[in-house]
Amino acid sequence: MIIGVPKEIKNRERRVALTPEGAAQLAAAGHEVRIEQGAGEGSDYRDADYNKDGVRILTKAEVWAAQLIIKVKEPQLEEFHFLRPEMCLFTYLHLAAASELAQTLLAKKVRAIAYETVQTDAGTLPLLAPMSRIAGRVAVQTGARLLQSENGTPFPGKGVLMGGVDGVPPARVVIIGGGNAGKSAASMAKGMGAEVLVLDVNPACVIGLQQIFGEKNIARLLDTKHWPSALNGCDLLIGAALIPGEHAPQLLEAKDMQRMAGGVFIDIAIDQGGISTTSRTTTYADPVYLEADVLHCCLPNLPAAVPVSATLALTHATLPYVQKLADMGVETAVADASLARGVNIWDGRVVHRGLAHALGIPFRACSH
Ligand SMILES: NC(=O)c1ccc[n+]([C@@H]2O[C@H](COP(=O)([O-])OP(=O)(O)OC[C@H]3O[C@@H](n4cnc5c(N)ncnc54)[C@H](O)[C@@H]3O)[C@@H](O)[C@H]2O)c1
Repeated sequence: MIIGVPKEIKNRERRVALTPEGAAQLAAAGHEVRIEQGAGEGSDYRDADYNKDGVRILTKAEVWAAQLIIKVKEPQLEEFHFLRPEMCLFTYLHLAAASELAQTLLAKKVRAIAYETVQTDAGTLPLLAPMSRIAGRVAVQTGARLLQSENGTPFPGKGVLMGGVDGVPPARVVIIGGGNAGKSAASMAKGMGAEVLVLDVNPACVIGLQQIFGEKNIARLLDTKHWPSALNGCDLLIGAALIPGEHAPQLLEAKDMQRMAGGVFIDIAIDQGGISTTSRTTTYADPVYLEADVLHCCLPNLPAAVPVSATLALTHATLPYVQKLADMGVETAVADASLARGVNIWDGRVVHRGLAHALGIPFRACSH
């Protein structure tokens, strides 16, 4: 199969979908791997590092002409004209919050498999998990910086040190959603010495967190009514709730934010639309804004801040699935239950139930 790896063009996205080792592995299995010139630069790979039999460094158009396109982020507007029928696109898509892209993939009859909805029989999300764990950690590092009065933005933080110091209380961190991103954020924030509370609707998740951290007070069930009081005096709020394939649960509005005036809100779940009505996607070029007296940071690609680590973590997870798609052919490979759950759009139909619900488009069972 011909596999194409375009250079990412989303704002300051430096990850790449395939390492030189991954490219060599696919080429050794008899596939032609096309890497766009400079695609690996942001992750510290030069074109020459990909130089192996069966791997070719080519132009953008030549790469996009491949049968299987593997990427990191969703196609950007400038890339839409490369999409065509029967092309298989394997990447993060987050279509529940991107209806224009979803409509384009439908109209162009692309076979779109979303990393974030590939799901094992046990219910885990193996291609989302590594990036969520990184995003949780980066969110806390970013939040710690934004809390500083000198934080490199036009909006000085409240001047609170995450870990406090002798006789001085630490920052209060509230995390909504205690899955991969939330748990990772909690361990980072705890490691920095902050006071941490995680809220989740899943009792098993709450008990799991209490056991992992050996602290009863670290996690609580999020009830539908009283929980916003947990935001009183919160310094750093992190949004990490997910309903797979659907819009993020919208749990907060401006009046709730007033409870933590002066604080920082990092909405990791912005890629699925965000957990607050005050959340708006930001970019690395313009990462923060002030709303309801809270400094908001809603970057949909937090792992892009650590591309060397993130590319390795991503490709460790994706390569076995790419190999399967290439070796078996896309139509046969998607008979695998985990990959089948990743198929969002197929030949002009929405074939993922959660996505169809989020977009208000009829669900059509996949018949590939
Ligand atoms: N911004 C980024 O750069 C970035 C990177 C990676 C992942 N993400 C996003 O982070 C989010 C979390 O991903 P994850 O892998 O941790 O998911 P996960 O499935 O591991 O965890 C999600 C948690 O949210 C909980 N939840 C669901 N509904 C809830 C509600 N109403 N209130 C509170 N908790 C609720 C679930 O019980 C679960 O424990 C997703 O939107 C994912 O796409 C963003």
